[in-house]
Amino acid sequence: MSYIVRIKPCNQTIVVDDDETVLDAALRCDIDFPFSCMSAICTTCLGKLIQGDIAYINGEPYGLEDVEPNQGYALFCSAMPKSDLVIEVNDVISDDDYPSKKLHYHLKKLESLNEKTHRVILAPPADDRIKYRPGQYVHLFNQKNESAPFTIANAPQDNGDLEFHVQTGTVFADKFIIDLQKNPQVIVEGPHGQNVYQCRPSFPILLLSGGVGISHSMAILQYASTLHFPRPVHLYWGCKKIEDFYLLDEIKKITHDNFQFTPILLEPNDDWQEKTGLIHPAVLEDYPDLTNIEVHASGSSEMVQATFEALQPHGLRQILMHSDYLAF
Ligand code: FES
Repeated sequence: MSYIVRIKPCNQTIVVDDDETVLDAALRCDIDFPFSCMSAICTTCLGKLIQGDIAYINGEPYGLEDVEPNQGYALFCSAMPKSDLVIEVNDVISDDDYPSKKLHYHLKKLESLNEKTHRVILAPPADDRIKYRPGQYVHLFNQKNESAPFTIANAPQDNGDLEFHVQTGTVFADKFIIDLQKNPQVIVEGPHGQNVYQCRPSFPILLLSGGVGISHSMAILQYASTLHFPRPVHLYWGCKKIEDFYLLDEIKKITHDNFQFTPILLEPNDDWQEKTGLIHPAVLEDYPDLTNIEVHASGSSEMVQATFEALQPHGLRQILMHSDYLAF
């Protein structure tokens, strides 16, 4: 038996299976629902039960003891529906808050980061811009109206600029960079994707990036940095060649007690003093138990799949694994 749950005021509707909590179902549906302890203690997931019946997994939760009695409050990390529900949770972020748009941006800056990677900064039109969450991607169009997805490599800026790291070596990217130098107008469509930074207070975040996948981590890193790293963040960046670490100096300048950085070169090299090998062994060396760790992975589909497969037996929970490849 499953139940329909309507979440207000964002007006999202989800289907909750009979062995699921409301939170589990919301996260399964990629809804950015607030949570932290997942044990009915911290009250991060507190909301109101407007209509319907619930039962708690482990009886009446401790977290409700300090909350006004008889006001209809509930802790949705542990509440399982016993009928269709209408609930009210104020901090739920809905995709409706980030509507997809197609706008003409113009080139503000084009620079080489290494032999094949270009930093492209696009400025929005005067009267509109794409509103997005750190970690999302958009489609960039070339002069022939063909498009390809690119991760936005910066956190949202006051001026609306979007940064991309475009790696040449594909037909689309090669042509896109050549076209940009002739015509600085670019159509941008988006945002898309659910591999985004979420403001949950307690779980540490691991950002696992392969190659140019670092662009995704940079957006999250920039955003976390502007918040002064309320959650611990550990960035792992794996590359095949030393020259591929095109942002090494930039990242090493970020210093904060809640930020760690581990660059990993695939093969040993006499000129490399840092770690070598694949990303997941390095992660497991530092975090043998991943039960309360949130992981964002970005890179090739092979790298993302292999990494999650290796990490899951060590406690990594499905709802705390994020990658846009998982959604495709
Ligand atoms: S009480 Fe902590 S997440 Fe629900």
